[in-house]
Amino acid sequence: MTNKDFVPVRYQHRIREGKVTFKAPSNIALVKYWGKRTGQLPANPSISFTLDACATTTSITYSKLEKPYTKFSFELIFEGKPKEEFKPKIESFFERIETYLPFLKEYHFKIETSNSFPHSSGIASSASGMAALALCLLQMEKEMDPGMSEDFFNRKASFLARLGSGSACRSIQGNLIQWGEHKETKGSSDLFAIKYPYKVDSIFQNYHDTILLVDKGQKQVSSTVGHNLMHGHPFAEQRFAEAHKNLSSLKEVFATGDLKKFIQIVESEALTLHAMMMTSIPYFILMKPNTLKIIEKIWKFRASSKTHVCFTLDAGANVHVLYPENEKQKVYQFIKDELVAYCENGHYICDRIGFGAKKV
Ligand code: PMV
Repeated sequence: MTNKDFVPVRYQHRIREGKVTFKAPSNIALVKYWGKRTGQLPANPSISFTLDACATTTSITYSKLEKPYTKFSFELIFEGKPKEEFKPKIESFFERIETYLPFLKEYHFKIETSNSFPHSSGIASSASGMAALALCLLQMEKEMDPGMSEDFFNRKASFLARLGSGSACRSIQGNLIQWGEHKETKGSSDLFAIKYPYKVDSIFQNYHDTILLVDKGQKQVSSTVGHNLMHGHPFAEQRFAEAHKNLSSLKEVFATGDLKKFIQIVESEALTLHAMMMTSIPYFILMKPNTLKIIEKIWKFRASSKTHVCFTLDAGANVHVLYPENEKQKVYQFIKDELVAYCENGHYICDRIGFGAKKV
């Protein structure tokens, strides 16, 4: 598919006013997306677990304007209060998607949005937020074009969400989602994410992700700045090639449930992401001392308990602790006894693999 396939031809119906609501989850990448090309295209393919508890709920109340406006007409309410600071991001999202949703200037939108997780938790809400917003807007199009297939709806929702925030394209469906062209994955695309199309062992079905909030402050490096650091980065090409290789290796891991290999790939991906930031110009250390303490504890506990607990990281200090359902008692006890002490104010979030966004 190409960009053109997402430009609508003609609507069968016109709608005047209404309200639509979607709840979209966050996601955690196993193979990381870090580096992008013009047009919000990824420099390498990535794969993620869709989460469940960490989510954004967004409602759009729309009403048709007397005549199309020259600018986008919208108000933004975040957790019950108007939020002017978020408007420029939405404005630029509207600009990027207008070709694909040409009715945007014909309506006034009241956008009401809230997160299931606290705002200052160091958890980025851009993936779930942009996915929920894209879904609401696309639902309007579906009402004007009721024949739209579910498959196309999911693809276009992912395509639109990507234009808001890259990783948001992996927050439409569950539970194992791949984004970016990879020659060994049929149907994979840089334009939108797909459900991982091959066999996945049942061990991955109820995977847990306990998010340890080590640092709840604002991100030290924004994603935009971070992705840009990969331009001219001395190790960029090797890194991109490594992501392709790791995805290829995961195929057998997912099929067989080989947790030892899974852990090796996932932890190596997390550390590579941080290594890229440490070796760019300018360079950053986004881990905190407590991030390292947690990693050491996980490694020690894994060796002594013979469990399969492992960690991954986003572009920050928080640690995602991953473990299978059949080890949850042992690992959760370990988290409470030994890891929570390293979290800011003892805060953490219990999440697990989820099944994608829902219309509310
Ligand atoms: O979607 P963005 O532009 O915020 O980038 C997210 C990048 C990582 O979270 C660090 C990795 C990933 O693949 O989600």
